[in-house]
Amino acid sequence: MSNKLIDIIDITKSYDENVILDKLNLYIRENEFLTLLGPSGCGKTTLLRILGGFETPDSGNIIFDGKNINSLPPNRRQLNTVFQKYALFSHMSIAENIAFGLRIKGKSKGYIRDKIHYALKLVNLEGYGGSFS
Ligand SMILES: Nc1ncnc2c1ncn2[C@@H]1O[C@H](COP(=O)(O)OP(=O)(O)OP(=O)(O)O)[C@@H](O)[C@H]1O
Ligand SMILES: [Mg+2]
Repeated sequence: MSNKLIDIIDITKSYDENVILDKLNLYIRENEFLTLLGPSGCGKTTLLRILGGFETPDSGNIIFDGKNINSLPPNRRQLNTVFQKYALFSHMSIAENIAFGLRIKGKSKGYIRDKIHYALKLVNLEGYGGSFS
């Protein structure tokens, strides 16, 4: 079994008087698929925002690949978030939406084409990407 890729240690987060996350401990191994399931307001998004660097925990540590990333800003974390809402650019094709982040990273057109193909195939939407140039 592979090592811990993300290690969430004793994370606490409160908003005003409300304790949302209370010394949460959780680790995720490489290639592991994990779902957070819980009632609305239990803190799922708060935890994801802390992982992404969009929110700061009151205490605790986030370890990524063995390194403490508590003070790393979102753009320097090797983590991505697909938000619940407003996830797509409506003026772009599906293929262009998939390509967006890869273009910003300066990937080649061939690489991006392969990734578009891979992503659409993964979700059984091959042929629905629309235009991409
Ligand atoms: N910026 C904020 N300021 C104050 N309270 C907040 C803030 N963000 C979240 N909360 C509160 O923290 C609690 C947890 O919210 P969170 O969005 O993490 O829940 P969730 O588990 O993602 O819920 P859902 O299933 O509805 O998406 C809620 O009570 C919410 O009102
Ligand atoms: Mg949520």
